[in-house]
Amino acid sequence: MLRAIDENTITDAAIEQMAETPNPRLKQIMEPLVRHLHAWAREADLTPDEWLEGIKFLTAVGQKCTEFRQEFILLSDTLGMSSLINSLHDKRSTEAGTKSSLVGPFYRQDSPAMKLGDSIVTKPSNGLEVVLYGRVTDKTGKGVPNASVEVWQPDETGNYDLQKHDPSEMDLRGHFHTDSDGRYYLRTVAPLGYMIPMDGPVGDMIRAQKRHGYRPAHIHFIVGAPGYREVVTALYLAGDPHVDSDTVFGVTESLVTKVNDKDSNSPIPALPSIKFDFQLAHATTKDMTGRVGADPSQIVKAGA
Ligand code: BEZ
Ligand code: FE
Repeated sequence: MLRAIDENTITDAAIEQMAETPNPRLKQIMEPLVRHLHAWAREADLTPDEWLEGIKFLTAVGQKCTEFRQEFILLSDTLGMSSLINSLHDKRSTEAGTKSSLVGPFYRQDSPAMKLGDSIVTKPSNGLEVVLYGRVTDKTGKGVPNASVEVWQPDETGNYDLQKHDPSEMDLRGHFHTDSDGRYYLRTVAPLGYMIPMDGPVGDMIRAQKRHGYRPAHIHFIVGAPGYREVVTALYLAGDPHVDSDTVFGVTESLVTKVNDKDSNSPIPALPSIKFDFQLAHATTKDMTGRVGADPSQIVKAGA
């Protein structure tokens, strides 16, 4: 039957045409997407010119992506989507664990395997050397032996290896395994906060919104062990001027840590240290990963 299409009936018409979607989860995701997208256009009373601007913007976001740059992740991050997806992921856990934070656009697979106590600094650095240490435990406080602790961070000027020298050379990244009591420790330099990449369409958006564009100083982690939910998170340094206004909404109170000048419990007490214990929740059959993002080169490969 022919129906009169107007700004309201179009929503049901579009949803009805998708009604036979065989994949039930795809159907469950697409229906509300269309409903909310249409409601947004109605609420904003979007004009053709404005919609075309939006399409040009998304096209530019895609064109900015390379194997070393992921502008779509940046867009997801700056719109608060990545943080929202992380919160939904944490809520789905059947046990409490360390809260998730963003993967961000600078994660790379296959970082070097290192031994406890090694330094992830492989290029000359003027940064303040610090020890990062703590334990990986379950919810009862029992250490998780041989847990994988993957770490990556910017340097003391706020730059990642991907933004410097030859981007195929890795620096300030590595993965470690906890000892028999769940302990980990490594050496690094204290990172500086930085501005997210502003030379693309997402930067244009941030400037148009009069946002400062900064992330507070932080160190990223992916921590996991067989039988546990992988936790993707980051530690944020107290005292950073942007710790309560992160452009990508990654900071939550429980992830804020400080550099201690003196800590007799540190495995290397002569150096300043950051201590943090990660708590892993047991895995259920679903949701083994909490990665809202991936190595940019893998995303480009998957889309090719
Ligand atoms: C990061 O922490 O690496 C990051 C996250 C979101 C946007 C830009 C950078
Ligand atoms: Fe980062």
